[in-house]
Amino acid sequence: MGAGAALAPLILEWYDRHHRDLPWRVPPAARAAGVRPDPYHVWLSEVMLQQTTVAAATGHFLRFLGRWPDVHALAAAPREAVLAAWAGLGYYARARNLHACAGEVSARLGGRFPETEEELRRLPGVGPYTAAAIAAIAFDRPAAVVDGNVERVMARLFAEREPLPAVKPRLGAHAARLTPQLRPGDYAQAVMDLGATICTPRSPACGICPWREPCAARARGLQAALPARAARTAKPVRHGAVYVASDGAGRVLTVRRPDAGLLGGMLALPCDEWAETPAPMPPFEAEWRDLGEVTHTFTHFHLRLTVKAAPLGASATGGELAPARAAIAAMPTVFAKALRLALTHPDSGIA
Ligand code: ADE
Repeated sequence: MGAGAALAPLILEWYDRHHRDLPWRVPPAARAAGVRPDPYHVWLSEVMLQQTTVAAATGHFLRFLGRWPDVHALAAAPREAVLAAWAGLGYYARARNLHACAGEVSARLGGRFPETEEELRRLPGVGPYTAAAIAAIAFDRPAAVVDGNVERVMARLFAEREPLPAVKPRLGAHAARLTPQLRPGDYAQAVMDLGATICTPRSPACGICPWREPCAARARGLQAALPARAARTAKPVRHGAVYVASDGAGRVLTVRRPDAGLLGGMLALPCDEWAETPAPMPPFEAEWRDLGEVTHTFTHFHLRLTVKAAPLGASATGGELAPARAAIAAMPTVFAKALRLALTHPDSGIA
């Protein structure tokens, strides 16, 4: 018997008593009684939960289900509506792939999600993590689900001192070895819950951890230092201006970003190309007033945007007028911040 056989029951017993209640989850007692999760719910939640916290994803998940209760409904929705509903979750390629994947499952697969990791991975936007999570949680397949939380738990449990990212393959191998044949769906969610509530990045609550006895990091007092990370290089800072052109009746000029590139396909405000020293690219010539600055951090750089405002000029070409408040809800966070600043600024001329 491998180590997995001894470790899985400990965390499953803990999960039975201390699992989180989450809107996409079938709790362990209901699962034991034969209730199966809806694969559409599992897929939607897992795509949302990549790079996004449970707290941030929950509201979006419930709104998506209210609006598009099954995969056929989501597939039939206009892409712009899906992108707008995704606004605020970040990593917008996920939203474009989500819609493409819904289209494929609806049209090619008759609305049924495949059950194996291999087939799941052929769907748009479904990588190794999502395929394993859906196979395990929706179909109770013994797939090894490995995300950042699971890596942290494995690094501590086995006191792996080698830094990330080099140590990733070893952590993945530990995760695979521990995955049980019995209740793999509950097990995957149990490790996620452990990582989120007990084996947290800072100050893990080892005293109440179901794996406190077998944990090698705890035995050596290393838990706070693991996982080790290779030194990160500082993110560069990019700059630019964002232009709020208003018609004086609450509407502002909006543009749709090209599909390729950052925030692709999303509704946005006209702006310069973000660079160390950007060239000004206003949507029309005007006396643009500075309203202030907003900042936002992306995966690979920090952004500092000067927010500029002017009345809509007759020479404006391209773009569409949209009510400012509705536009805020449909835009990525960085543009929502800029528009919110403009709306609360006495000199913006919006209202
Ligand atoms: N993080 C990623 N997937 C999750 C899930 N299914 N439940 C809780 N947290 C998660």
